[in-house]
Amino acid sequence: MPGIHRLLVVLLPLLASVVAHKEPKTTQEVEVQRALQAAAYHCAPAIEQFTAARQRSWAQKVLAGRPSLPGYEELFAAGTYADSIAPAPNGDQTMMGCSPVKETRIQNNSCVLTPVVTEGPYYHKAGHPIRQNIAELEDGLLLLLDIGVIDVETCKPLPNVLVDIWQANATGHYAGHPTPAPHLVDEQPQVGGKRAGLLSAFPRTNEHETFLRGAWPTDANGVAQFTTIFPGYYTGRATHIHAKVFPAWTTHPNGTFSAERLLHTGQFFFDDAINVRVDNMHPYTENPIRHTRGRTRNWRDSLNIFEDSHGPEREYNPVFKLDFLGGVIQQGLMGYITMGINASATVDNFWKG
Ligand SMILES: *[C@@H]1O[C@H](CO)[C@@H](O)[C@H](O)[C@H]1NC(C)=O
Ligand SMILES: *[C@@H]1O[C@H](CO)[C@@H](O)[C@H](O)[C@H]1NC(C)=O
Ligand SMILES: *[C@@H]1O[C@H](CO)[C@@H](O)[C@H](O)[C@H]1NC(C)=O
Ligand SMILES: *[C@@H]1O[C@H](CO)[C@@H](O)[C@H](O)[C@H]1NC(C)=O
Repeated sequence: MPGIHRLLVVLLPLLASVVAHKEPKTTQEVEVQRALQAAAYHCAPAIEQFTAARQRSWAQKVLAGRPSLPGYEELFAAGTYADSIAPAPNGDQTMMGCSPVKETRIQNNSCVLTPVVTEGPYYHKAGHPIRQNIAELEDGLLLLLDIGVIDVETCKPLPNVLVDIWQANATGHYAGHPTPAPHLVDEQPQVGGKRAGLLSAFPRTNEHETFLRGAWPTDANGVAQFTTIFPGYYTGRATHIHAKVFPAWTTHPNGTFSAERLLHTGQFFFDDAINVRVDNMHPYTENPIRHTRGRTRNWRDSLNIFEDSHGPEREYNPVFKLDFLGGVIQQGLMGYITMGINASATVDNFWKG
């Protein structure tokens, strides 16, 4: 490990100088770069490569560039990826080109439409703040998210669309919904059927809480990054994070936004192997159902949401790729996912409870 750190430290100044010279200047150079870029996007599994390039960029930034662990807004200062994603006019075409990449489920589907699944009962149409750090004061395992958006009609990254995410806190509560309705305090989860394991949704009784809700536009490379905590679980649902994507929005003076046309509503998951580790970490151990109903495994997710999130032919993988941010899991995780969105389509905003 120390060897790798040193290597990256040595490489960084080199990279910076390469980057400084690779801006195309003449019309011809611009054309060449555009052609290279188009070729790279179409001859290789775009989603896989897109993610790989971002992972490399993070490795450089997090492991070498910063002495301490990343934290808040300044972590996501602009322009992180511009140089590592665009192929250099000469040379570095392996990053987005036709280099062999390891087999994954989506490799043969360079442009897979990410399945639309229910938004669930905890979305707030008004009030999601525009911000990258959605953690507020919630306690939990640091989780950085790197969410890429690709337009399935072009297979190219989709810049400037708003990625809106929301999730439960470490003990399984959504902001604004702390408790069950009074007459449902002793409700038992439904037995059998698609809703097996589910309870009625907790009503919104707190209008002011906004923790673990927030939206941020994708950058020029189609990526939106967030700082959050690993979500906790609640009755009947596999551990997940919700996302919506909007092509246009209006910002309000109080820092929130409104949007009408919707491009996507989906949910993302974590490998159960990681969920098991996090279950055993404080404050996830304080989950009130830990010793009763416990965490719902991905394969048992109610309403078939985990299954449906893979698409009818399981052509999409809705599970975050995770990296450790530090040497041990307690230092946090970095999660990558890429969404394939049809930028010409409008999807329904639906809740099929
Ligand atoms: C890719 O998928 C298609 C359709 O599922 C299949 O016919 C084809 O053989 C696959 N190609 C490779 C290289 O796996
Ligand atoms: C922020 O402003 C919008 C638009 O005026 C409003 O709908 C929303 O309720 C406000 N949110 C808060 C937390 O004040
Ligand atoms: C999660 O939110 C609920 C409801 O607001 C709160 O009671 C609980 O303490 C929070 N969990 C943690 C770990 O802070
Ligand atoms: C995208 O949506 C448009 C409008 O609904 C549709 O005509 C087109 O076939 C879709 N493209 C893909 C790749 O799904």
